[in-house]
Amino acid sequence: MDASDILALCKRRGFIWPAFEIYGGVAGMYDYGPLGIAMKNNIIDIWRKAYTLGEGFIEIDGPTIGPEIVFKASGHVDAFSDSIVSCTKCKESFRADHLAKGLHSNPDSLSNEELSKLLRENGVRCPECGGDLTDVEDFNLMFKTTIGPGAGRVGYLRPETAQGIFVDYLHLYRFVREKLPFGVIQIGRGYRNEISPRQGIIRLREFNMMEAELFVDPENKSWPRFDKIKNEKMKLVPNNGDEIEITVGEAVERRMIGNATLAYFMYFTQEFLKTVGIDPNRLRFRQHLQTEMAHYASDCWDAEVLLSYGWTEVVGIADRGCWDLSRHIEYSNADLTAFKKYEEPVEIEREVIKPKYELLGPKFKGKSAKIGKALEEIDPSKIKNGNITIDVDGEKITVGSEFFEIVRIKEKVTGRKIVPHVIEPSHGLDRIFYACLEHAYTQKSDGYVVLRLKPAVAPIKVGVFPLMVKDGLDVRAAEIDERIRMSGIASYYDDSGSIGRRYARMDEIGTPWCITVDYETLKDGTVTIRDRDTTRQVRIHQERIIPTINSLLCGTPFSALEQ
Ligand code: GLY
Repeated sequence: MDASDILALCKRRGFIWPAFEIYGGVAGMYDYGPLGIAMKNNIIDIWRKAYTLGEGFIEIDGPTIGPEIVFKASGHVDAFSDSIVSCTKCKESFRADHLAKGLHSNPDSLSNEELSKLLRENGVRCPECGGDLTDVEDFNLMFKTTIGPGAGRVGYLRPETAQGIFVDYLHLYRFVREKLPFGVIQIGRGYRNEISPRQGIIRLREFNMMEAELFVDPENKSWPRFDKIKNEKMKLVPNNGDEIEITVGEAVERRMIGNATLAYFMYFTQEFLKTVGIDPNRLRFRQHLQTEMAHYASDCWDAEVLLSYGWTEVVGIADRGCWDLSRHIEYSNADLTAFKKYEEPVEIEREVIKPKYELLGPKFKGKSAKIGKALEEIDPSKIKNGNITIDVDGEKITVGSEFFEIVRIKEKVTGRKIVPHVIEPSHGLDRIFYACLEHAYTQKSDGYVVLRLKPAVAPIKVGVFPLMVKDGLDVRAAEIDERIRMSGIASYYDDSGSIGRRYARMDEIGTPWCITVDYETLKDGTVTIRDRDTTRQVRIHQERIIPTINSLLCGTPFSALEQ
């Protein structure tokens, strides 16, 4: 089996197919078809519930286009790029680190100069026409647009959903009643103008993300339920050593993973991936090298799964430190901090601005009270050239140093403001979707394909067939199918072709169970229910179908029906 088998099945059966195909398609753009959408939504549902119901996260849904300042602040406009080389002859462009695969253990970690040298020394030429390659340069991945008509305002399609959460920090901090730690999720599209997307839906220009941002106290990066999972194991590939299987607790104690929250959510990610059907034997966490990390990260572990493409990142779990909130504070002047209470109030001495109201009055007349109040709120360390420029009712007023003095005062304070740090598990939903398909794909020697999807992820849970399309069997089967669907379980009625063909069609799309209505059904009301993975069948009464399917969906083994 290789990726082309999976992609062919996906196209034939309606999971995914290349977008805009009648016009030749666009690299890095795919459509989800009817089965793909159902399966993608099932994965989303499991993920959303794990974070919101399981861990108490809150969810938002913001715009996918944002004004330039947001992405200037986030660093993406200036620093979000991949290394590009072009062919001097046919002008085709390539990702330099992809051309360097096999020439270095981690080409992603090399600078443009190092990549240029590596490609040159190894005589790498254009893979399309054999022409000479240019030097390696940066290529910014942001999709630029304008917001509004005419010259408009520069905007960008978001490269990650995360920024929408950071810019909403004030609302979110208030919503959680001003307590750390707290977590927020956002699910939606991200956009990156990839240089040369390939490998099906592994690298898309428009893609689906599920991101969680956890705001934590930088001096106490713990997570309340860490102790419950600290003896569980994960497979780690640290950036300075070989793969090791280790308990979560030990990985933190030995400082392989920087803090307990990061470690907790790596384990949480592992369990989520197993739940949706990733084979634990083809799953590991690889730590980024310092030179490989995104501009915002201070530590990052990729959950990688082994696919026919090789080890592939499906989730990045990063410690973003205070990068994002500090940058948005700098660019917006908003107070994106948390208040950290001291155990006991403490007395501190600090400098404050004391306005000289007796001089402000004659000079600024009716505005003097507002000016005085504004001066009192200014941090003296922010004064430049002795003067202060303040905004009073929309008017900028510069106040000379003769109108105020700086004095030291003593006061009792109950806490201080801190900029929370952010831990981020960021999921590539399309990659997870694809990995579920590849890890579920089995093919017998005669070519018979069974997609052993987890029932919760399978787009259709039950196939319903009449043995024959006559004698009322089809009417009864259609009634049963409708009852199942009306109870909220996705079922599919099929009466065409032999019963064997119908089972095969359901096996190929991962339907875990099939129900057949036969002549015994007309006599005693029983039907057969067949298990995809064992092909075993048992008879149950038709009134028991819905509770039975629900019980199987909750994890009851099929063998329990045979007792
Ligand atoms: N938010 C993580 C990423 O952009 O990859």
